[in-house]
Amino acid sequence: MPQFYDAMPTDWIKPGETATVSVDGFPVAIANIDGEFFAFQNLCPHQGTTLGGRPVVECIVTCSQHSSKYDVRTGKCVAPAEGDGFDQDLMTFEIEVVDEVVRVKV
Ligand code: FES
Repeated sequence: MPQFYDAMPTDWIKPGETATVSVDGFPVAIANIDGEFFAFQNLCPHQGTTLGGRPVVECIVTCSQHSSKYDVRTGKCVAPAEGDGFDQDLMTFEIEVVDEVVRVKV
C-alpha cells in the first residue's frame, strides 16, 4: 500500500530547480516552484532520459534528449518529443512537507 517516505530536506533544491531522489528504492524527481514541491517520475517516458536535475521554467521541465515538455504540477506532456511525436504524460506523486522535510507517497 502506498505511503509517505522522507525524500529530502526542503533546502536541498532552490526554486526553479529539480533533483532526483530515491524514495523507497524508486527514482523520483522533485521540483521546487517558488517554494512549492512537486514529484514526478524521474525517467522520461519517451526513451528514459533522466529529468531530475533539469531546470523548471514556468512550471515546465524539458527533456534534454528530444525536447518533450512536461508540466511538473500535473505530469501533463505539453509538447511532444521531436521526431516521433511521443506525448505520454508523466506519473506524478503526492507530496507533503513535514518539519522542513519533503515527503513523497509511493
Ligand atoms: S527521451 Fe525524453 S524526449 Fe526523448
